[in-house]
Amino acid sequence: MSATPERQALIIGASRNLGLVLADELARRGWRVIATARQGGGELQEKADAWPGQLTVESLEMNRPEQVAALGERLQGHQLDLLFVNAAIDRGGDLPIDEVPDEMFNEVMLTNALSPLRALEALRGLVRPGGTVAVMSSRQGSISLNTRGGFELYKASKAALNQLMRSYATRHADDGHTKLLIHPGHNQTPLGGAGAPLTPEESIPQVVDVLEAQAGAPGLQFLDLYGKTVPW
Ligand SMILES: NC(=O)c1ccc[n+]([C@@H]2O[C@H](COP(=O)([O-])OP(=O)(O)OC[C@H]3O[C@@H](n4cnc5c(N)ncnc54)[C@H](OP(=O)(O)O)[C@@H]3O)[C@@H](O)[C@H]2O)c1
Repeated sequence: MSATPERQALIIGASRNLGLVLADELARRGWRVIATARQGGGELQEKADAWPGQLTVESLEMNRPEQVAALGERLQGHQLDLLFVNAAIDRGGDLPIDEVPDEMFNEVMLTNALSPLRALEALRGLVRPGGTVAVMSSRQGSISLNTRGGFELYKASKAALNQLMRSYATRHADDGHTKLLIHPGHNQTPLGGAGAPLTPEESIPQVVDVLEAQAGAPGLQFLDLYGKTVPW
């Protein structure tokens, strides 16, 4: 019997919560996982210690392009089946957009929209033909579903992410990569709030089911954790 070749993933922003559980779940399913964090130690290092040789940690501040380029250099020769950007921030809460300070606007847009796409552009050369390039989005980024108030800056940043991902998918339409924007459901994390209905441990196995099921699918899709299309 021939063994299935080991699949390899790079997860950007895996220090805690959804990203951490994603790295752990992939390792549990036999993937070789490279997971990034801004700071050493912590829960991700504990996971790496639990999966020796299978889950490795790299240091990355995603908003620093020179660090992304250096990571790409360190990973030369790897053939990724999955490049997944999970990192994002939420600032501003229920502030109406005209009350958002410039610095906060710039930080959220940089982190949630520009840096993920810069990372994809810088690292896509590591993804093998037929591999998947994915970003954690949110249904909060859906323009058509934006019928309730609140979270104006965060929603705008995820809508910008989605739009930039569509431009990316158009520009790289023929590269043979599966392209996904994922809504992981509303989860109990500092970002999602304590009252959210799901935990990362409940959501992420379903997200990974979607990632595995979509492997090889053409074009760009915006899917939730159940594999259903999220309206743009
Ligand atoms: N929670 C929800 O209900 C929900 C719903 C829909 C979508 N999402 C999306 O799911 C993803 C994860 O959410 P979460 O709830 O797990 O958030 P979280 O607990 O706040 O974790 C965010 C992760 O992003 C990392 N990160 C933030 N800025 C970064 C940067 N500049 N460079 C590198 N890493 C950075 C954080 O690293 P540090 O530990 O270093 O800060 C952390 O690992 C996000 O994209 C979020 O928008 C979440």
